[in-house]
Amino acid sequence: MARLAERYVCQDCGTVTAKWAGRCESCQAWNTIVEENTSPPPPKGLSTGRGRVFEFVPLDGKTETQARLTTGISELDRVTGEGLVPASALLVGGDPGIGKSTLLLQAVAGLATAGVDCVYVSGEEAVEQVRLRARRLGLGQAPVRVAAATSVRDILASLGERPPRVVVIDSIQTMFLDNLESAPGTVSQVRASAQELIRFAKQSGATVLLVGHVTKEGQIAGPRVLEHMVDTVLYFEGERGHQFRILRAVKNRFGPSDEIGVFEMTDRGLAEVANPSALFLSDRERPVSGTAVFAGIEGTRPVLVEIQALVAPSSLATPRRAVVGWDSGRLAMVMAVLDARCGLTLGGRDVYLNVAGGLRISEPGADLAVAAALVSALTGVPAPEGAVVFGEIGLSGEIRAVSQADLRLKEAAKLGFTRALAPAARQRRQAALELDELTLLSDLVRRFEAGSDGAQTWSDDG
Ligand code: TYD
Ligand code: MG
Repeated sequence: MARLAERYVCQDCGTVTAKWAGRCESCQAWNTIVEENTSPPPPKGLSTGRGRVFEFVPLDGKTETQARLTTGISELDRVTGEGLVPASALLVGGDPGIGKSTLLLQAVAGLATAGVDCVYVSGEEAVEQVRLRARRLGLGQAPVRVAAATSVRDILASLGERPPRVVVIDSIQTMFLDNLESAPGTVSQVRASAQELIRFAKQSGATVLLVGHVTKEGQIAGPRVLEHMVDTVLYFEGERGHQFRILRAVKNRFGPSDEIGVFEMTDRGLAEVANPSALFLSDRERPVSGTAVFAGIEGTRPVLVEIQALVAPSSLATPRRAVVGWDSGRLAMVMAVLDARCGLTLGGRDVYLNVAGGLRISEPGADLAVAAALVSALTGVPAPEGAVVFGEIGLSGEIRAVSQADLRLKEAAKLGFTRALAPAARQRRQAALELDELTLLSDLVRRFEAGSDGAQTWSDDG
């Protein structure tokens, strides 16, 4: 038998090294390198024997499209691209306690009630706990087959008896293969277990849903390699203190990869939120300074969200910059452009920026809304009543166009907004609301300045 090879694997990024080290060379994480034993790889090169000859097929050949399984949870179905695909593997990642088990239990209960054979394997909870949760969710009667198990060999043997159409593995970090020496949750265990389960999915035609916990750095604990192995990766995110949860597709071989689904965690499980815009806007009776409503796009859907800024004199040598829900590098850029191109200095002041409702925005189209919130906080002048803002800011202080402006405007009008601060369009737009087109960031600043000295709180022309 081949001698076991010793190697050291970073549990965060999967980098393999020959020597142990306190810090991973590749991802710079501390104390993540663990010794793992594996059999040595087969010798390289083609000298090991002849391969099997396979047939090539034409690109335009016939493909049978398999029916997708819709869970009945429309937010989940939309994120997966209209349902689960047979013979595929899907990874649901997220912080512990965010609601992954709850979501998947609700999904399989819905499917099972509709007559689809579903299995739920829990490696974290006892069967009794899963039953209790199902009962609390009002799903106690759903014909889901449940088991508590962690050995992949046992699970595959049991599934092979009567292959189901949907399998939930909760979570992949608790699974292990007995022919590997390393502990469950290590890179090699997670990778090998996932490989076996994915192979089962491809062979049996079942959909395998893997739950994966995330480390605080935002990667699925252990292997990022897992993301490459599965067909679809969904992240379940949200702030612990908020009841809102966002399911985000980050990779999808069978659908859009930038779609989000919005849920609310209630005492009876996860409820769908069909109109997320209403949820991300705080209730305001009168305009306050330091806020701006951003008309954004998440996936295919327009989402309006409030951006809040607070600017306060700092007592620190290096003023605080605290950002929730947006990129802090992008905030620094917007502040630098405000400083260099508009003469608005935020040095010597603490700046806090918050995206309401626990949403995380990654669109550069939010630049202008962030700038509006900052300028409003700085001048004390509220943004115009009933206005939405969107646009990207360039380093020279120009406002750049963003995609799907019409969709953003339509959503804003639908929710009762009457005005939009937007990049100047090349052709005239038909909009249901008043358009205030800006070409330079200084145009935006001038509007707030005009508001601060006169009786008028907002000037109509630039
Ligand atoms: P869970 O699905 O166990 O999270 P994960 O599998 O991602 O670790 O969710 C646990 C949290 O959800 C827990 O803090 C309690 C809360 N919760 C509710 O608020 N309502 C409910 O109906 C359920 C089942 C859980
Ligand atoms: Mg769980």
